[in-house]
Amino acid sequence: MAEPLKICFVAAEVAPFAKTGGLGDVSAALPRTLHRLGHDVRLFLPFYSRIDRQKHRILPVEFLRDIPLELGGRRYRFSVYTTEMPRSSLPLYLIHCPALFDRPEMYGGGVHEAIRFALLTRAAIECCQRMGVAVDVFHANDWHTALLPLYLKTHYQWDQLFARSKTVLSIHNIGYQGIFPASTVRALGLGEHAAKLHQADLDSGIVSFLKTGILYADVVTTVSPTHADEIRTPEYGMGLDGLLRKRSGTVLGILNGIDPEEWSPATDPLIPIQYSAEDLEGKAFCKLALMRDLGLDHHPTVPALGIVTRLVKQKGIDLLRQVLPSFVEKVDCRLAALGSGETEYEQFFAALQRRFPGRVCFYRGYNNELAHRIEAGCDLFLMPSLYEPCGLNQMYSLAYGTPPVVRKTGGLADAVQLFDRGRGEGNGFVFEHATADALGWALGYALDVWRDRPAWERLVQNGMRRDFSWEKQAGLYVELYRRLGVS
Ligand code: ADP
Ligand code: GLC
Repeated sequence: MAEPLKICFVAAEVAPFAKTGGLGDVSAALPRTLHRLGHDVRLFLPFYSRIDRQKHRILPVEFLRDIPLELGGRRYRFSVYTTEMPRSSLPLYLIHCPALFDRPEMYGGGVHEAIRFALLTRAAIECCQRMGVAVDVFHANDWHTALLPLYLKTHYQWDQLFARSKTVLSIHNIGYQGIFPASTVRALGLGEHAAKLHQADLDSGIVSFLKTGILYADVVTTVSPTHADEIRTPEYGMGLDGLLRKRSGTVLGILNGIDPEEWSPATDPLIPIQYSAEDLEGKAFCKLALMRDLGLDHHPTVPALGIVTRLVKQKGIDLLRQVLPSFVEKVDCRLAALGSGETEYEQFFAALQRRFPGRVCFYRGYNNELAHRIEAGCDLFLMPSLYEPCGLNQMYSLAYGTPPVVRKTGGLADAVQLFDRGRGEGNGFVFEHATADALGWALGYALDVWRDRPAWERLVQNGMRRDFSWEKQAGLYVELYRRLGVS
């Protein structure tokens, strides 16, 4: 093997310690896979107060205690704790700064949020300095850590340890850009380098973390090839498309993988019975158990639809609001929905459950075990997102023999192909336009195929046999890191 790479990976979420969505899954699985491939990975996460010290064996790093860090004239102190990533010997480094992270929620808090993630970013760099690691690639993720390239190219430019370091910024969700009032800038500790921030933004009274990252990262990636094209269009670029088009040569998409140790029906300890593509008997039992536990009337020939999602606009919940009430009214089906988020969406699902007792169950909240059980126990999975940089649930549902109904966008378009009944090809149901008619069509077609048992079995097999594991995708990141090293 070529020389192992030294990679510093910084993120606001790492599962299972801190996760609200797919960022947490990816920031756990990608570093773990890179570590397994033999690379030297330094993984950093804030020590949020919600991280359970009892549950995980968390120890202080003796030589990284009480480190002073000045941000915009304020002196903070942070210490570093460490714990092993589950099923891996990869250490996770937790940045402990109670002054900033001692709060119940991971996100929110206005301007304080900017300072919190600026500190995480600076602390990660400082730790690499103190560990004496000549980092090949600093890999920042989403707006939270997007100031990293600028800090490295200004504040830490003096340090020869990083003379050859390159930076990658991965955009997991362009809908969240970390936009703060320009008055925040002083608190970010950029000093005279603040002049390098986007001037027109500052003139209009704002500073954008994500935009700064796009300006200064050596390479910008996003989490699927289709989304890499999409974000360079006004329709999906959320105001950053012009800048991304300018950087076109250095913008690319790498599809996320899924962690087979976490999401495989053959080994999943969270589902009632394991099963595989060769023997699907267990899946029928998983459905029975799910229906029973959710209080839904069970019948094997009645299709069960599943949803697991953050309840936000991005996920196409408005389309579901238009389609589901009349669909459930007309079609004999069951619906198991798990999620939390915007109140109006939560109310919609709660009302649907009240209207169709025994047919619809809504679990409001976050529940990892139930997420696994829905993937295993349903027949169809719904993901009509308006935009989806990658999306993991469609890949989980394919692996669990639960064909997804998706809109053709981002990673949904890359992972799911419309089932062609004549040829027996394809693995799910794909519709193009974000309209009720288009979603209604896809659901209608899915039900037709459901009734055609040989076709359905073929569809399920096609999905279960496709390999979405991280090994291959992590290899694409390694290639990218190496290309950067020689450029
Ligand atoms: P996003 O990151 O935009 O939320 P992804 O599909 O990439 O979308 O990832 C979502 C991840 O979060 C999946 O692992 C999914 O199972 C999980 N998830 C989302 N909502 C819930 C919930 N209410 N309970 C448990 N897991 C959830
Ligand atoms: C984001 C995106 C999702 C993606 C995840 C992990 O939250 O919304 O599509 O799968 O990040 O990259």
